[in-house]
Amino acid sequence: MGDMQQPKPISEYPLGRDLHASARLYLQHLFWNIRLGYLLHPAISRNVTPQIRIADIGTGNALWLLELSRDLPSDAQLVGYDISSAQFPNEESLPPQVRLELLDILSDELPKELLGTFDVVHVRALVLVVQAGDPRTILSNSCALLSMSRKRDFSSITRSHRELGFSLQNGLEYLCVSTVRYSLIFRFLYRLTDPTEPGGYLQWDEADMSAFQSLVLSSKATNAASSRLVQHELQYLRACGFQNEYVLPSATKKQRSLAFYLSLCFWVKHLPDYFSSSSELELIAGSRLPKCNVSQKLETDNHLMALEDFLPGIAAHVARVEEREIVDIRDALETTLKSAIEEAGKGVALQMDWYTCVGRKV
Ligand SMILES: C[S@@+](CC[C@H](N)C(=O)[O-])C[C@H]1O[C@@H](n2cnc3c(N)ncnc32)[C@H](O)[C@@H]1O
Repeated sequence: MGDMQQPKPISEYPLGRDLHASARLYLQHLFWNIRLGYLLHPAISRNVTPQIRIADIGTGNALWLLELSRDLPSDAQLVGYDISSAQFPNEESLPPQVRLELLDILSDELPKELLGTFDVVHVRALVLVVQAGDPRTILSNSCALLSMSRKRDFSSITRSHRELGFSLQNGLEYLCVSTVRYSLIFRFLYRLTDPTEPGGYLQWDEADMSAFQSLVLSSKATNAASSRLVQHELQYLRACGFQNEYVLPSATKKQRSLAFYLSLCFWVKHLPDYFSSSSELELIAGSRLPKCNVSQKLETDNHLMALEDFLPGIAAHVARVEEREIVDIRDALETTLKSAIEEAGKGVALQMDWYTCVGRKV
């Protein structure tokens, strides 16, 4: 078995955190806002309570939390976690509801005092943090932060209402397990009278790079360099340590031949399945976002800027591979990127797929 098949941990996050990288992340937030049209998924926002506690994992510049804080009650508590504080805004300029802290979401042992304490956990754009093409560590650690399901508090309602509720529930339980077992409306009514209240929500928004395409939008444009970009990007990521040949059992023959590429991001399109198959979560919503022409140029610029962010990082990885190899990778990426930027100016768009998933802790 060759070296390429040994899963290796990634010791360093491959994107930079300098001024350019910071600006790119702000641009990316604008992109997500346009694509989603919300910060919190509607299934979550309709359940906001005055003292809601929200965690944002891999928060970066914390803009998602900062923007959200403006729509939330003053008693809400919003905490951004990241492995690095390099992109955190100045602590003294944060709104009173927002706090930013260091946390490694891949850790085997999260701090005990955080477990079960959040009503909402938000994860966004961690495709380069997920290890070995398997998001389950981040999924289960995020779930561990969520509040547990608990018994509903019926103490404030009168005895007659309580009895009515229980009889209704018994009746619905009978209906649910018999003839109309799969009827959504009965499931919904049953949930309303269920004495157990589910726990907190997990929202995960992610990019699927495996769906990368370069589109020629103008008769004056060609996409020779743009279509080579992903290849160079992958060579670089390999050099960084993304060397896992993890392939899902369901992968087709063609997908297997692209094992390395898929190992990075094949999981994204299966994120709803990961939510559904987790014993800790009930999938509430999970979808690929529809194509969007409005944000096409923004997405293209953001992708090109992300590739530019890889370049300075290459030097830091020289020690991991033959120096000649890394220099070649950098040169090839730099040359192709330069031409791709020109192609984009003439009418080439770069696009990927984008997913969002919401689950509730059971
Ligand atoms: C592409 S940025 C996304 C930032 C933010 N979620 C957003 O959507 O703008 C990925 C972030 O994950 C952070 N990160 C990398 N490894 C991490 C880890 N093991 N635990 C927590 N955060 C991590 C990086 O520092 C970076 O801020």
